[in-house]
Amino acid sequence: MDITVDTRALAKIETEALVTYSFEQEKPVEGILERLDEAVGGALTKLSATGELAGKMLETALLYYPQGLAAQRLLVLGAGKKDKFGTAELRRLAGAAVRTLKSRQVKTVAFLARENDRTAAAAQAIVEGMILANFDSDKYKTDKKPGNEVTSAALAGWEESSRAGADLGLARGRVIAESQNFARELGNEPSNRLTPRMLADRAAAMAREAGLAVDILDEKKIAELKMGALLSVAQGSVEPPRMIIITYTPATVNNGAPVLGLVGKAITFDTGGISIKGANDMEKMKYDMCGGAAMIGAMRAIAVLKPSCKVIAVIPSTENMPGGRAQKPGDVQISMAGKSIEVINTDAEGRLVLADGIAYAKQLGCTHLVDAATLTGAVVVALGNVNIGVFGSDQAFTDQLLASGRAAGEKMWPLPIDDDYRELIKSGIADIQNVGSGKGGGAIVAAMFIKEFTGDTPWIHLDIAGTAWQDDVKPWNAKGATGVGVRTLIDLAMKFGSNDSSAR
Ligand code: BES
Ligand code: ZN
Ligand code: ZN
Repeated sequence: MDITVDTRALAKIETEALVTYSFEQEKPVEGILERLDEAVGGALTKLSATGELAGKMLETALLYYPQGLAAQRLLVLGAGKKDKFGTAELRRLAGAAVRTLKSRQVKTVAFLARENDRTAAAAQAIVEGMILANFDSDKYKTDKKPGNEVTSAALAGWEESSRAGADLGLARGRVIAESQNFARELGNEPSNRLTPRMLADRAAAMAREAGLAVDILDEKKIAELKMGALLSVAQGSVEPPRMIIITYTPATVNNGAPVLGLVGKAITFDTGGISIKGANDMEKMKYDMCGGAAMIGAMRAIAVLKPSCKVIAVIPSTENMPGGRAQKPGDVQISMAGKSIEVINTDAEGRLVLADGIAYAKQLGCTHLVDAATLTGAVVVALGNVNIGVFGSDQAFTDQLLASGRAAGEKMWPLPIDDDYRELIKSGIADIQNVGSGKGGGAIVAAMFIKEFTGDTPWIHLDIAGTAWQDDVKPWNAKGATGVGVRTLIDLAMKFGSNDSSAR
């Protein structure tokens, strides 16, 4: 999608659809809507009198060939209550506009921001919303309608004096949303078209294009490094594992400066292994690599936005299969860090691969760690499909991430992690076991297991099992992989790398 800033007068904007929004209880039309209403001969006032323009969130009023405008259509979306309106709502509105219009074969749109939304952050949210909404997972459809997408969009309403903010927001929003779409594309790929080797190839191609350093460890190197936990999961599959390392280095690195490590679970298919899953919904386990995809997507944007800190993504990738060589319940494995693990349940494989991912990230010099993983069904029970589950070992660092989540419009909720839960992962024969001895607190037990490998390094765990996949289409978004985490991680990296020491 081609996006530009348009500073022309409203009536002069030539586009297939001019889009704006009205708030609930706005009487009858205020601010810039008043000017629009004048241009269209009072049509908006009349619509609001009939109750068709009440401002309810995501309500739509569509006028064709509005007199007085060069635009072929005027779409007014409901924006809900003004005091509840922020960049997250703006992102969704812009997305809903694109999806409403592209279903009508509209190719060009101009999004008119309201008077309070002429900031760089607002422009960024609008651009993100539009690019994310334009994405559809129709790659393997052979009967695709040609070009079922918006090809060109404009940010309207900006004046020359505020144009710099629009340009900045546009540039940022574009790279962030395209990177999130890249993560979504990977998440949607079926496992026969995205094995660990193929994921590594896709990550390496992205890194080369973006100017990032990349290192792919093959099964031999993984064995040399004694990554026994990752290997134990991989041994049940004929597909070899990969450890993907992508590094961003800023122009100037100070000695002793903090290094952000992003560790992502990338199980390209999770059958459960010998502790095999049921057939119901098993096809969805192709998205068990979305933690890794989020890190790859974030790195793509980080390469362009250039934070001042070094960032290293470490992505352990394998299938979890029940082949003849597969590990069996009760097996004991030695992780790269040297800790022994009794594998009670082979379906709790994500924490195994993360154990070695985290050990390796620490070896590479990461001083702060964030992991993202579709880790537990238990987090879906706790938080549903709305919030990411957040666990952190360092309050200041965790607060920083939660603030980034709010800034990026990705919902997340902190869950507890304290030493009383450690009891649950004690093993009779090894240092720890990979599932809890009790029944409850599954998401916390999983986090507790990962924490064992972090040592003193400040660490945050994001359980995205409930949020990385969307079963139904939303007015602003296609169904399938969501690319959740990408925007928050980019925001965190940018702030972490700034001189603002509260980031650490
Ligand atoms: N990949 C799954 C978690 C998952 C569940 C992701 C639902 C997305 C949707 C993970 O590897 C797993 O199987 N976890 C087990 C752990 C259990 C055996 C302790 C689970 O949550 O059931
Ligand atoms: Zn599993
Ligand atoms: Zn899994």
